[in-house]
Amino acid sequence: MAYINENFLKLKAGYLFPEIARRVKAFTEANPDAAARLIRCGIGDVTEALPEAVRYAMHDAVDEMGDRATFKGYGPEQGYDFLREAVAEHDFKARGLQVEADEIFISDGSKCDTGNILDIFGPGNRIAITDPVYPVYVDTNVMAGNTGEADDSGAYDGLVYLKCTAENGFVPEIPSEPVDLVYLCYPNNPTGATATRAQLEAWVAYARENKAVILYDAAYEAFIQDPAVPRSIFEIEGARDCAIEFRSFSKNGGFTGVRCAYVVIPKTLMGRKKDGSPHPLHPLWSRRHSTKFNGASYIVQKGAAALYTDEGKSQVKELVDHYMGNAALLVQACQDAGLSVFGGVNAPYVWVACPAGLTSWQMFDKMLNEANVVITPGSGFGSAGEGYFRISAFNSRANVEEVCRRIAALV
Ligand code: MLT
Repeated sequence: MAYINENFLKLKAGYLFPEIARRVKAFTEANPDAAARLIRCGIGDVTEALPEAVRYAMHDAVDEMGDRATFKGYGPEQGYDFLREAVAEHDFKARGLQVEADEIFISDGSKCDTGNILDIFGPGNRIAITDPVYPVYVDTNVMAGNTGEADDSGAYDGLVYLKCTAENGFVPEIPSEPVDLVYLCYPNNPTGATATRAQLEAWVAYARENKAVILYDAAYEAFIQDPAVPRSIFEIEGARDCAIEFRSFSKNGGFTGVRCAYVVIPKTLMGRKKDGSPHPLHPLWSRRHSTKFNGASYIVQKGAAALYTDEGKSQVKELVDHYMGNAALLVQACQDAGLSVFGGVNAPYVWVACPAGLTSWQMFDKMLNEANVVITPGSGFGSAGEGYFRISAFNSRANVEEVCRRIAALV
């Protein structure tokens, strides 16, 4: 008999984005004429072509692989030095932050990293997540057996939910109880909010006091426009002793289909053994990587390294400017329609309060059926997301302008 991991049976619905895709498929099959008009602003998937610098670098890497003299088999599981060094130099040292190349672990994506990180933490941790939240943090904890069952609102027993509301600017208050692991994501998915330096300082102080670890997802860092907004948790003094940071090339480099990301685990960061004694997390993650991962492909890592060249940086800026231009248009259109709008200024997501009386899924249906626009219902990110919807700014300019016209006509 092969026993299953029954924790999977606790998962409430399908993963949010496949569920949206399923509903959209049903709609387009039933309404083939509307299908041609459909504009997808649901999942935050990039639409613009890969930067030229990346393409050239990947072409060269393919040619290297085609020549016996430069061919490469397995690479280092933690990533090639050329990429780890480029990341350390450009993302951290150039900004005065102390992160060494060997504290950077290259991977095939932040979704995988934020899920896989649980491998190095034991059972019994009190885990705090924000609400609304990127659903991967919750579901992977459910799968790992770190929760009980969900209640009717979808909240899992055993998780500490930190409410993010318009009143607190979608940055949660420090919990009154001690927790061991805290997931923070800024710029935030789904609300588009950012955390100030003072707010992150308070979180770092709390984590240090409670010997907690902050899992800081900075996948949208490249979209920050305001120089006062911290781009990395490591800008906060003391964070090297209490934080892991996740970064991704998916959205800034157009890598959602290419796959490359990285995790920073400072060598000074400690977890605790059962007896409370400290143990470094860096060697655990390194061991996990070596055992369960054979590294991102050489070709992909060469492409990612090209993002740090002068040409690569200016092409990334063009992409970010394009998507943030879209975000500005969407914010304006929603405001003009009299809706309350958040985000979209330092993040590619626009978070909008539903018109009075509509739930998130009702608004999803209205947008799909009447405007033929796919958005993401806020309640899919947690119960505190009810009454909101998210519009992704990842699209062509023409599509975004059309979405703006349709919002004006609809609301
Ligand atoms: C989103 O739409 O929330 C993201 O695209 C999901 C992801 O990055 O995995």
